Amino acid sequence: MAEADLMSSPVGQKPVYWDPYEPEVFANPYPMLKRLREEAPLYYNEKYDFYAVSRYEDCIAVLGNRDDYISKHGGVIEVMKAGIEVPSGMFIYEDPPLHTAHRRFFTKVFTPKHVAALDTQIRDFCVKALDPLVGGNEIDFIEHLGAEMPMRVIGMLLGMPEEQLKDAQRNVDESMRTEPGQQNENSGDSLAGEYYADFVDYRIKNPGDDLVSSLLNTPFDDDKGVTRTLTRAEVLSMVALIFGAGNETTNRLIGWTAKLLSERPDDRREVHANPAMLPEVLEEVLRYEPPGMYIGRTVVRDVEFHGTKVPAGNALLAIVSAANRDEAKFPNGEVFDIHRGRQPHLTFGYGFHNCLGNALARVEGRIAFEEVFKRFRDWEVDLSRAKMSSTATVRGWESLPARI
Ligand code: HEM
Repeated sequence: MAEADLMSSPVGQKPVYWDPYEPEVFANPYPMLKRLREEAPLYYNEKYDFYAVSRYEDCIAVLGNRDDYISKHGGVIEVMKAGIEVPSGMFIYEDPPLHTAHRRFFTKVFTPKHVAALDTQIRDFCVKALDPLVGGNEIDFIEHLGAEMPMRVIGMLLGMPEEQLKDAQRNVDESMRTEPGQQNENSGDSLAGEYYADFVDYRIKNPGDDLVSSLLNTPFDDDKGVTRTLTRAEVLSMVALIFGAGNETTNRLIGWTAKLLSERPDDRREVHANPAMLPEVLEEVLRYEPPGMYIGRTVVRDVEFHGTKVPAGNALLAIVSAANRDEAKFPNGEVFDIHRGRQPHLTFGYGFHNCLGNALARVEGRIAFEEVFKRFRDWEVDLSRAKMSSTATVRGWESLPARI
């Protein structure tokens, strides 16, 4: 076991060991993450060969510094270790100058107007999904809402027809799924966006009033200062990015909100009586149960944390799920408190790559639960039938049945 694994474990306790794939830790990672913050603020995992920081300030130091930490080798352990050549356009895994050019371009074509325009469609979808459940005795927050709504919202945004949307979703699910305790060997498969080729080709021939048509036809200044439009390959990767980044993550947010409120009847009734609290409640859900456990970077210059060197070339994870409960930043960080107010949690990342879909995810969560609360004041999740998803990177529920 490496030196950092053993750092200052109290006498009588097992050394700190954090394996993000280990089913028991995956089911409830927080006791171990607390120990990481306290006992091994720089942690090294020998089995998967990665370093990790878990304190808030350390995560900020990593995510806010793109000279020493880069994204181009990926942000999840499997991709980083597989040595996958990330295709151009998957800008979550790019560095300057290409990242700067692609991100600037994307913020030009994906504006707050797009998000606002989706408002009514999101609500209509939720109404259609929830109305048939009224008068019954069960809802599955994932089957009826989480697995459906964010996917359709991405479809609305991209202008993708229903059948293609479902196919794409199936492919992405398959590329993300892991056996319990195992790494995902297919994690690089979806990056080039070949699943979306038919659809993008259709839009090349039939431009419309949708995001993909804007991606295809809006000129931008690329990393070499040349004014051009995106190549077909870049568009495919950007579609894959939006699909991958905006779908399962928001699904997990819906699941965690339902579960946390199920377990807290007083909070639930308070929100039911005052749905204007929902944005604040969702912030606390995001802080407390972030869909993404960590954000990975590759170290390009030797760096040091807490007296230990991390040599260049290593994978370093900023464990945002641990940072979000760091007592130094969030008093009573282990407590879920719907009155905490908006807090600078790291669930959407920090700095250069921070999430460009955060406003959309927040709108989706708010509208979903506004519509839930219009119909149901009480629900109780049946944990004996609920199932956690087996994707190691985006932690949450695959089915979440609840009595209503
Ligand atoms: C609760 C839901 C969501 C969570 C927790 C989430 C989380 C994140 C995180 C942590 C990052 C930063 C990764 C890094 O620093 O390497 C990120 C980036 C990104 N997200 Fe999200 N996301 C969510 C929803 C969405 C949605 C709905 C979209 C769709 C438009 C989206 C699009 C993106 C894009 C395009 C990036 C790349 C930004 C860049 O690299 O410059 N996300 N997201």
